[in-house]
Amino acid sequence: MRKIAIVMIALFVVSIAWTQSLPTEEIVGGPYVVNVRQRSATVMWIVKSGQMTVGTTPDKLGTAIPMLRAEKLKMTGLKPGTEYFYQSFPGEAGKGSFKTAPSGAASFQFVVYGDTRTRHDVHRAVIDAILKYANPEFVMQTGDLVENADSTALWPIFFDAERQLLRKAAYFPALGNHEHNSKNYFDFMDAKPYYSFNWGAAHFTVINSDISNVSASQLERDAFWQEQTRWLEADLRAAQKADFRFVFAHHPPMTAVKRRQGDNPHMTALEPMFEKYGVAAAFFGHDHNYQHYKKNEVHYFITGGGGAPLYDVDTPPEGITIKAASTENFVVVNVDGKKAHIEAKKPNGDTVDIAELVQQQP
Ligand SMILES: [Fe+2]
Repeated sequence: MRKIAIVMIALFVVSIAWTQSLPTEEIVGGPYVVNVRQRSATVMWIVKSGQMTVGTTPDKLGTAIPMLRAEKLKMTGLKPGTEYFYQSFPGEAGKGSFKTAPSGAASFQFVVYGDTRTRHDVHRAVIDAILKYANPEFVMQTGDLVENADSTALWPIFFDAERQLLRKAAYFPALGNHEHNSKNYFDFMDAKPYYSFNWGAAHFTVINSDISNVSASQLERDAFWQEQTRWLEADLRAAQKADFRFVFAHHPPMTAVKRRQGDNPHMTALEPMFEKYGVAAAFFGHDHNYQHYKKNEVHYFITGGGGAPLYDVDTPPEGITIKAASTENFVVVNVDGKKAHIEAKKPNGDTVDIAELVQQQP
């Protein structure tokens, strides 16, 4: 009898030790919805499955590196322009909603912001302000979501700041240089380097301006840029019947930041294409401030004030500058048929800039 008791206790101790050695899974991001179209959408969330500790001496493993994986569920057969509610993982935190893209002419709102890296308190303030002053069906991120996309420690901070916004608005990101072309970005966003979609009668085109991280090989970088540029032109040409054509990328073609002027000739070289195919507005990030230009009927907005340290706007380009302000910001776009009202706002709700767009057919 005593032997049986000892064996039972030993088994109990072993089972406790086994349970404790198992990694405890934890949801550290989401739910959020990506790749929303008229009839399909993908709900995602991020799971921390464990962590590894590392250090420079055996008894000082001070740095913890979380192991993350993205869960995703693609839904098809949805109805256009319809609000859907879902329960992803269990509990209140797993609930969310999104609206599918409407077909035909529709009125809708989207928000553009970017460069949410580095100052997490500012990132939170910008998200809180979007929730307070706007009600977008979807958000466009102009890139540099986190300071280093290879670092799994940063993504839970990003998703925590974005939580309340992303559980109610679809998410469309552009690739920034701080994404480092990382597999984490593509896995967590279920994203392609460049893509396009329609929302109502408007067409949205997102390109990867971060060619320096595409490859270590100049030949491969050039090949990527040629391929993407061909795709961009074909995409814009095929969207000529849209009421609006909007383009998004991280690196801007022009800037009021003197030390950065002329940095992105590959983007500046796209301006004639934007003009030829009647792009109403192109949105960028990378510069941590707000800038608005109008050049040959195309509006250019730089909204990179989502958290990264602010840059001066010391040398606004002559003749095309409408507004340049060194401030945190986000941009609210209300599309109503063939008109679009654009308002850039500070996190405190103050208006930075207002623009009215009317799509000009080329
Ligand atoms: Fe950047």
